[in-house]
Amino acid sequence: MDLSKTLPTMVPCRICGGTVYECLDFGRQPLSNGFLKPEDVPHERYYRLAVGICTACTMVQQVHEVPRQLMFHDGYVYRASGSSLMRKHFEHYAEHLLATDLNGEDKFLVEIGCNDGVMLRAIHEAGVRHLGVDPSGGAARVAEENGIRVRIDFFERATAADVRAKEGPADVIFSANTISHIPYLDSVFGGVDALLAPQGVFIFEDRYLGDIIARTYFDQIYDEHFYLFSVESVRAAAEQYGFQLVDAEHMPVHGGSIRYTVARPGVREPSASLLALLEQEREMQLGRHETFAGFAGRINGIRDDLVRLLKDLHGDGKRILGYGATSKSATVTMFCGIDSGLVPYICDTTPGKQGRLAPGSHIPVRTPDAFRDPYPDYALLFAWNHADEIMAKERTFREAGGRWILYVPDVHVI
Ligand code: SAH
Ligand code: TYD
Ligand code: ZN
Repeated sequence: MDLSKTLPTMVPCRICGGTVYECLDFGRQPLSNGFLKPEDVPHERYYRLAVGICTACTMVQQVHEVPRQLMFHDGYVYRASGSSLMRKHFEHYAEHLLATDLNGEDKFLVEIGCNDGVMLRAIHEAGVRHLGVDPSGGAARVAEENGIRVRIDFFERATAADVRAKEGPADVIFSANTISHIPYLDSVFGGVDALLAPQGVFIFEDRYLGDIIARTYFDQIYDEHFYLFSVESVRAAAEQYGFQLVDAEHMPVHGGSIRYTVARPGVREPSASLLALLEQEREMQLGRHETFAGFAGRINGIRDDLVRLLKDLHGDGKRILGYGATSKSATVTMFCGIDSGLVPYICDTTPGKQGRLAPGSHIPVRTPDAFRDPYPDYALLFAWNHADEIMAKERTFREAGGRWILYVPDVHVI
């Protein structure tokens, strides 16, 4: 990634219309959840993955937009319930909502991007009125099989107005790892305005730019993550759309996420943790273009170290497998040029990924059984955010002398 030779690309900010200067360029990338059948390889679609920062509102955003119907459709393979950590995370939060904002007569919760129902399950079981909205039919039908109500659709202004007309106002609109996927936030907030009860809250959690930069989690950047949110940029966006950010809570999931609470102006007092996070971001200079120059340098360092390590091990006759065919891994394999010559296959529990080829790299995806048959010498852990769960499950690999390779926050072997 060499940004010194050319003038940066400039595009208008999707939020405020200000100037977005490109600051990271990952080059040609596939659709990160576009797992392929071998016969689909010649038709695979690519786009340029580049990220910029708005000089006015500080929102970090992609410079090019991938059409939403290419990413989120009936065949979308990601299943949110695949991790026991995330199941517990959402179950706890559902319990919290049931005891607070959803405690009372005929409360109504709408979830944007409910996927297979990982969060709505507990809401449904508690008998609380709810509706999930998600365009990915395959995942939504898993939720429906568990009794959860889902509308298979993109959440936007028109969808929300229709839900409001049919079902009345929502007390809580919740979303996890989805709002950052949606370039048209004006329409999303317009929908929230149409649907949310006057005293209601819009709560969403997403991966945090502060952690992505501090720990060089460059693989959190891929097609679906159109925005990389900071507290300051979400505060500015909420205000732009006539709302107020009233709380921000830092959480460890997915390498570091923030849960934002947005309300109509004056409904709630801004929390102490929100003010503290805003102050911390100013100290980190998170909103500055220059911060990304250091980030780009560290990303290049990881790529060089990882490629060197994999090639050295391969040269020594060691067998290396991948673990976790994450969306994140598309950025890593493409940016580093890792293919099936270095990593013959990746093991993953997701049925829709198994038997397919990973996007871009075309590394085959197999079941976790194929990991034990026989164990490799090294395993490249693409699903590093599930390290504890996976390493516990695969304890005997380590006991048999196997080693895990991690590449964030730097390349290391454990
Ligand atoms: N909430 C789950 C799933 C996140 S994956 C979790 O936290 O793990 C992102 C989900 O957002 C996908 O299921 C995708 O289909 C959905 N999505 C993408 N754009 C959307 C939109 N405009 N409205 C509603 N859901 C959307
Ligand atoms: P995840 O990190 O949640 O998401 P993303 O695609 O956004 O990067 O994906 C984790 C992947 O790892 C998912 O494909 C399922 C797989 N996985 C396993 O194979 N075994 C496991 O024990 C866990 C927790 C996940
Ligand atoms: Zn802006």
